[in-house]
Amino acid sequence: MSQEAPPVKDVPAEQAAREEALVRQVLAAFDGTPSPRLRQLVQALAGHLHAFVRETRLTTQEWEAAIGFLTACGHITDDRRQEFILLSDVLGLSMQTIAVNNEARGEATEATVLGPFFVEGAPEIPIGGDMSGGAAGEPCWVEGVVRDTAGEPVPHARIEVWEADADGSYDVQYGDDRIAGRARLHSDDQGRFAFWGVTPTPYPIPSDGPVGDLLRATGRSPMRASHLHFMVSAEGLRTLVTHIFVRGCAYLERDSVFGVKESLIRDFARQEAGTPAPGGREIAGPWTRVRFDIVLASGEEAEDTGATG
Ligand code: BEZ
Ligand code: FE
Repeated sequence: MSQEAPPVKDVPAEQAAREEALVRQVLAAFDGTPSPRLRQLVQALAGHLHAFVRETRLTTQEWEAAIGFLTACGHITDDRRQEFILLSDVLGLSMQTIAVNNEARGEATEATVLGPFFVEGAPEIPIGGDMSGGAAGEPCWVEGVVRDTAGEPVPHARIEVWEADADGSYDVQYGDDRIAGRARLHSDDQGRFAFWGVTPTPYPIPSDGPVGDLLRATGRSPMRASHLHFMVSAEGLRTLVTHIFVRGCAYLERDSVFGVKESLIRDFARQEAGTPAPGGREIAGPWTRVRFDIVLASGEEAEDTGATG
């Protein structure tokens, strides 16, 4: 990184020179970092942080408040709650990291945030099975085909799906050991998949911690646009972490973690009560159906999700 600090407006030249000398000294302290990549990262980080302090003329009280905020994020974080990822999410950093690491590749389906509610080892269901596990909600039939960017079907792709119930809770938030609203299935030999879930509804991200305080202090909503999560992987293809969003949801344009992409919005077509349902399922009330055809990019290790957040 250049050792030249960018100029800061309205600061007397002598003061600016002192501040710039400190920036140069700090950056030079990392010059001996053996790993070139680590050197690049720490010098860029230090440089941007100094620029932030100088540009905003950060006060000592504000610096203390920032340290207090990060300390609170640390205190609430444990193996079930990750406040730092949530902070990255609401600052849009998770989505920016995904954008940087998932350059648009042809027709490949776009990626979005993983979120904190993915759990390894979800129960396997057959094609046409029910992933709701008794989660409350209006039934929703989801179907599609997994293809590669050449348009060829991807047989036996591993498809992990998870979602919140109609009250906006994931099973891991129930406070017991129930597994609901999550499953794994595999596409058939022509890449096709289908399953029953529940029609997604909007829900708030966890807002009882410092990140929630930040959202309130800045007048932002914690709500996420209604969505259903997917993680799709297959040998020799890039693992895709994404969601589909419900067209018409009020939060599409103000999703609290900036996860919505136009290409991921789908029509969840409403079916009146009594409409015959796939698999002959008997449904008392209305239900929805949605199609999501998935295109996996090539050229990456299957295990590399390339995703954060
Ligand atoms: C979610 O969709 O599950 C989620 C994503 C980011 C932060 C919180 C929740
Ligand atoms: Fe979610």
